[in-house]
Amino acid sequence: MNTRSGVAQRVDDLLVSEVEQILASVPYSAHLSSGDQELDEEYYVRHRIETIRRIRLTARVDALALARMIEEDYDSSRLWGRYTAEELNHDILFRNDLRYHGCSDETIDGTAPLQATRDLIAYLARRLDEIGSLAAVAYSLFVEWNSERVSALVVARAERRFSARHLKGARSHLHIDRHAGHYPMILAIAQKLAVREEDERHLFTTLKDLACLFGAYFRELHDVTVGKRTGGHSGPLEECARRPDVGASPVTGDQLT
Ligand SMILES: [Fe+2]
Repeated sequence: MNTRSGVAQRVDDLLVSEVEQILASVPYSAHLSSGDQELDEEYYVRHRIETIRRIRLTARVDALALARMIEEDYDSSRLWGRYTAEELNHDILFRNDLRYHGCSDETIDGTAPLQATRDLIAYLARRLDEIGSLAAVAYSLFVEWNSERVSALVVARAERRFSARHLKGARSHLHIDRHAGHYPMILAIAQKLAVREEDERHLFTTLKDLACLFGAYFRELHDVTVGKRTGGHSGPLEECARRPDVGASPVTGDQLT
């Protein structure tokens, strides 16, 4: 039987190691948070557009997960419902920032999501059927951990490159995550849902799969921006040790654009 703090430590250890693997297999992904090179505006803006698309697409997954969680653990669903309702508005914060880069709502909404994002959403939809709401909780755990560990570096680097005005929404986002305690809250929900050993195994497998899917995202993000301009490529597609099966997507093209 695992203690709560034991699970927290193992989640942290796993995510540290998975993010290191992403940085090793797609070195350019470190460009957002560090490096001597000036932050590339096209790369940064495309990343933010995709962040917005992902927020909207995962909102659907989150809503389906709420319905599942109401049956699985009603108390957790109260927290999850509040959390996901708040997350529904976070696209607005990044939309406001993108205006300072000359990027309109029409441009954002008219940009097709990357294949990696489509794969991520298909994976989450399939996983939701297999393991229930824990699939969406694992995704939130991944992104909230990232927000706590990495986002402040990204925001500070982009503020130096552009201006504080360009990052007003992103900074508010950071503030909300910290002050509402999003990471500890999602971690608490995950621990409550993953009491059984089998569920805990599902949680860790899903986190690993998500890391693999984010690795594919950063590879594609590089290739459609910097790589396209310079003719470079982020390198051969290195397969994850356990490549996630994105399966047949119940999400139609219409829902993605
Ligand atoms: Fe958050």
